[in-house]
Amino acid sequence: MSLPEGFLWGGATAANQYEGGFDQGGRGLSTLDIVTSGSQEQPRQLTVKDAQGKIHNISMYEGMPEDCQGYLDENQYYPSHRATDFYHHWQEDIALFAEQGYKAYRMSISWTRIFPDGTKESLNEEGILFYERIFNELLKYGIEPIVTLNHFDMPLALAESREGWLDRRTIEDFLDYAVLLFERFKEQVKYWITFNEINLLNGYVFLGIKGKDLGKRAQALHHVFLASARCVMEGKKINPDFQIGMMLASAGMYPETCNPNDSMREIEVSRMFKYLYSDVQCRGYYPEYALKEYERNGWQLVMESDDLDLLRKGTVDFLSFSYYNSAVISTKEQEKTSRGNMMEAVKNPYLEESEWGWPIDPTGLRIVLNQLYDRYQLPLFIVENGLGALDTFNDQNEIVDDARIAYLSAHIEQMIKAVVHDGVKLLGYTPWGCIDIISAGTGEMKKRYGFIYVDLDDSGKGTFARKKKKSFYWYKKVIESNGTSIQAKP
Ligand code: BG6
Repeated sequence: MSLPEGFLWGGATAANQYEGGFDQGGRGLSTLDIVTSGSQEQPRQLTVKDAQGKIHNISMYEGMPEDCQGYLDENQYYPSHRATDFYHHWQEDIALFAEQGYKAYRMSISWTRIFPDGTKESLNEEGILFYERIFNELLKYGIEPIVTLNHFDMPLALAESREGWLDRRTIEDFLDYAVLLFERFKEQVKYWITFNEINLLNGYVFLGIKGKDLGKRAQALHHVFLASARCVMEGKKINPDFQIGMMLASAGMYPETCNPNDSMREIEVSRMFKYLYSDVQCRGYYPEYALKEYERNGWQLVMESDDLDLLRKGTVDFLSFSYYNSAVISTKEQEKTSRGNMMEAVKNPYLEESEWGWPIDPTGLRIVLNQLYDRYQLPLFIVENGLGALDTFNDQNEIVDDARIAYLSAHIEQMIKAVVHDGVKLLGYTPWGCIDIISAGTGEMKKRYGFIYVDLDDSGKGTFARKKKKSFYWYKKVIESNGTSIQAKP
């Protein structure tokens, strides 16, 4: 059982969690730069001032109150500002990725490093040069860059001035940004992903919208869908060989029981949580079930005459997705003690959970691969998977991260079954946070995913020194053997 030659083994990160240098090289602020650190129990927060000048702290998952503006508070620690400092360590880090034998590296570009205020008027040439150096360095080692145009990046200026994606003009600004990158990097980058986890985009931090009206979210997402479709169309004009994909947060979903009502509920949740987004981007139109749901909720999308045509023309070449956990869906009112990637669910008695309460379900990955491939018959790409865990040093000053190795090897085993046994077409596998980065959900540093440790704590203290964990050597062997050697040596 082996994977095809050319399978893209690698790792993945995102600018807002890894890059740092938030005020260097001409970069502008994005909304995540004003979000503090938190924990599983205490959500990350924004410090906001209302029209009367009164200060409040709100959760990053709450909508920004209508009359408030967020701002940087000198007394708070903002983890994105230095993150784990790729900005100053990129050569060292890429050399480590190369040492592991990466064939691909998924990263994102920070919109405000290219356009500090989100628009082309603010073009920052230094930002382009920064990424050019990165791509050249990757290519020097034969590592294929997989570039996400937008990974949870909302220019603060656009959020403040016009509620970000709620305003249709943001489509044009995003397109200016994307086309500039396509033109400048058409020789270096072949694989592009338009929006990270499009189905999780929400509220002020990710979309720039204020208040709690979910109709506004649907409208903003309509603009995001259009921006993505137009990126595909424009990108193909610039280089017909570009492969431009979408990205879905793709948790597995199970009905709690064989009660048909639980099954129907699972279908409904899967549709509105995941498939709506991949249906639009892979098939090119809003599915009926979503239109009905919008109608029931009274969400009337404002569209221009060619919007539906653009969605049809701008379908993606591949579907990339993140997979961390599965969730149990039930019709019964009961406590949701299980967590997951931006979700809460009923506990699954058949699965163990991570230290952060995320169910560990390798078979669920095989199921998701099959479900997505059956549904769209498009190449898939696992661009995030991994175990967020505490790492500790032993007496020999080593990090023996056996739990991470066990998690990843079990998932890789299921991934290989999906490809070799089930026939799923899969482009590659880039586990998440291949080097330690800050957590998106909690802002913590101690929730680590990496093969490479970074010396930094939850309050931002540390030397930023890099150190290889046991999993570093294990994953190197996995890549060398193209997945045939996935068992860890004791
Ligand atoms: C995905 C995101 O939601 O999950 C990443 O694309 C994120 O940005 C990852 O880091 C893991 O979540 P967390 O909360 O453990 O960082």
